[in-house]
Amino acid sequence: MPATVIVGAQWGDEGKGKVVDLLAERSDVVVRYQGGNNAGHTIVRDGETFKLHIIPSGILYPGKLCVIGNGTVVDPGVLCGEIDALEERGISVDGLRLSSAAHLIMPYHVLLDGASEMRLGRFSIGTTRRGIGPCYQDKAARVGIRAQDLLDPGILVRKLEIALEQKNEWLQKLYDMRPLDPKAVADEVLGHAERLRPFIADTSLLVNRALDAGKRVLFEGAQGTMLDVDHGTYPFVTSSNPVAGAACTGAGVGPTRIDGVLGVAKAYVTRVGEGPFPTELDDEAGRHMLEHGHEYGTTTGRQRRCGWLDLVALRYAVRISGITEIALTKLDVLSGLDTLKVCVAYETRDEERLGELPDNQTTFHSCRPVYDEMDGWSADISNCTQIDDLPPRARAYVERIADALQVRITLIGTGQGRHQVIEPTEA
Ligand code: GDP
Ligand code: IMO
Ligand code: MG
Repeated sequence: MPATVIVGAQWGDEGKGKVVDLLAERSDVVVRYQGGNNAGHTIVRDGETFKLHIIPSGILYPGKLCVIGNGTVVDPGVLCGEIDALEERGISVDGLRLSSAAHLIMPYHVLLDGASEMRLGRFSIGTTRRGIGPCYQDKAARVGIRAQDLLDPGILVRKLEIALEQKNEWLQKLYDMRPLDPKAVADEVLGHAERLRPFIADTSLLVNRALDAGKRVLFEGAQGTMLDVDHGTYPFVTSSNPVAGAACTGAGVGPTRIDGVLGVAKAYVTRVGEGPFPTELDDEAGRHMLEHGHEYGTTTGRQRRCGWLDLVALRYAVRISGITEIALTKLDVLSGLDTLKVCVAYETRDEERLGELPDNQTTFHSCRPVYDEMDGWSADISNCTQIDDLPPRARAYVERIADALQVRITLIGTGQGRHQVIEPTEA
């Protein structure tokens, strides 16, 4: 499909990076449309591991236009570090472009993210402490700094003075920290300006022109549906909209240009940070997922919480993002479990059975999963390349999911490697 949105269908870390990397081979443009370096996408290419946080996962192929869209928040130092690290490994970043309208994460955003989490104490969100929330906060409050401000030091200092007037009050009075000097912050940020200047562009124009020319464009989401600030488990969410609809605002294209939405879901579920997670496990099966799936955060190294596949939440993701196809990743991780469970409904504290995600957060917090059980399989599936290579029970598991969602599963992940994947024509 010419214009496809790749969206996380769970709580993030579904394997979007691997899927985007795989599909980028057959695409011309990859656009990140939201989030910042809270994201961590691990890609394994020919046994070599790459960890990307802000640069789109299409960068490993030469000649692709890779856009960091206006809907993202970008830490200039982190972006420069990522560019340098790729170049050191012989990966060209010539195709990289940064939207002039993307907001920049400033040093005070990082300080405020950490300080706010400390202050929240046991009510903390478990953020990545990368300054994401405070940066989006400033964007909405209209005191943000944008990529284009790097090109005009005079304006940058004036904007920093305005932003810091309030931030310094917070730093000093709320958090007992030292105030920041606008000039010093400007100098620090401008230290990255020359490095980033060649990449800054009107990326909406570039992407629309590519679409006009019939090029194939992937819109790459970060995080996942259940971390969406509108549709996720608020307040335990990120501060942007990972859902597919945000690809339009975050890239500067109209909804009529999108042809399809590929939802990426793990064959089980993980979550990092705080917040409700109905199918969370604290048993042998959970430890199996943790160990066999290497479920440690790409960004913070935190252990991910693991649980059974939640079909209620996944059906919700299909609805919210209009998902037309599913990539089911990490099926190989389930090999060796005798019994598999899938959550087909929730039960509330009042013993009411819910087939849909409740729209009330308090109800959701108290929901218990209702499971269907299926037989597991023991064979290693990491070398399977065809749907028929899979053990019948693994095929039954995949079919069960496609049936429940009424969406085709067009990719099945069987390992970390770029080509450890099955692409069934029908599933
Ligand atoms: P993202 O944030 O959605 O891009 O996902 P992450 O990269 O944070 O986490 C997914 C992890 O699973 C990465 O280490 C991937 O290399 C790995 N991965 C992706 N797909 C598969 C798969 O099908 N099988 C296995 N075993 N690992 C996978
Ligand atoms: P990728 O793109 C998993 C989580 C954090 C925290 C909440 C808010 O790799 O899937 P933030 O720093 O965004 O304000 O933190 O969101 N979170 C993620 N969890 N994968 C991610 O990105 C995440 N990005 C943020 O753990 O619970
Ligand atoms: Mg990740």
